[in-house]
Amino acid sequence: MKGIVLAGGAGTRLYPASIPISKILLPIYDKPMIYYPISTLMLAGIRELMIITNPDDLSNFQKLLGDGSQLGMKFEYAVQEVPRGIADAFLVAEDFIGNDDVALILGDNIFHGHGFGTQLKRVVAHNDGATVFACHVKNPKQFGVVEFDRHQKAISLEEKPANPRSDYAVVGLYFYTNDVIEKAKSLKPSARGELEITDLNNIYLMEDKLSVEILGRGFTWLDTGTFDTLLQAANFVRANEETKGEKISCIEEIAIREGFIPKDELLKKLNPNLRNEYYEYIKLV
Ligand code: G1P
Repeated sequence: MKGIVLAGGAGTRLYPASIPISKILLPIYDKPMIYYPISTLMLAGIRELMIITNPDDLSNFQKLLGDGSQLGMKFEYAVQEVPRGIADAFLVAEDFIGNDDVALILGDNIFHGHGFGTQLKRVVAHNDGATVFACHVKNPKQFGVVEFDRHQKAISLEEKPANPRSDYAVVGLYFYTNDVIEKAKSLKPSARGELEITDLNNIYLMEDKLSVEILGRGFTWLDTGTFDTLLQAANFVRANEETKGEKISCIEEIAIREGFIPKDELLKKLNPNLRNEYYEYIKLV
């Protein structure tokens, strides 16, 4: 399975902070935002990623992440010239996906919860069509919303509905079989001029090929697109890391633990002059 991190978009809700640099590169406490979605795909066992950026930010992402070999991974980059919607990612990444299945994660979505890696690996092994995740939220109007019947089977999906049929948001992490490329090509732009991920997921729902996994009470999902949610996320990560002494979404640690690269090889590639707390932590993994 291949993975896509969608790191485009103007990020105007975070201006002026995101004028000189993509919001996906802004720090969430001790690491750039993009480390969090990358770590989620790594926990799913995915080692080949395409990072889709806007034209201005491409070189910054390359400077940060390189070709991925330092993590035993492979990173490719593509530019989305105009923000044409989330589902456009499958058109931009068509050649990269090739004949594989594919996972897509939004660059500003943070996931943290016990057993998530195991859950993701199960989804990768069993997905037949589309698998999406739902999380209970206070403000469903701001998200894609999924409605369930009494057997917890999804019966409707709506993008930012004025009158949500449930309090369950569809989060920014999606797994698809390879037919997603053809289905994305069949989409028409919505009223806001975008190829909507919810329209794509609705095709799978109509074909009875959509699975929805509920992320329960013990699970944290954060969408970090505003001043408040950016700070909220940083506070969440700091509080967790402080009390537990274990980092959230440290991609170097995950690369070692998942067996993507032996620890000594990873350490050899690190600049020995980097001696702050983040790098000292990696040495102790
Ligand atoms: C997008 C999707 C929405 C989803 C959300 C999750 O919204 O369109 O369905 O619930 O991401 O973060 P956006 O954040 O682009 O407004």
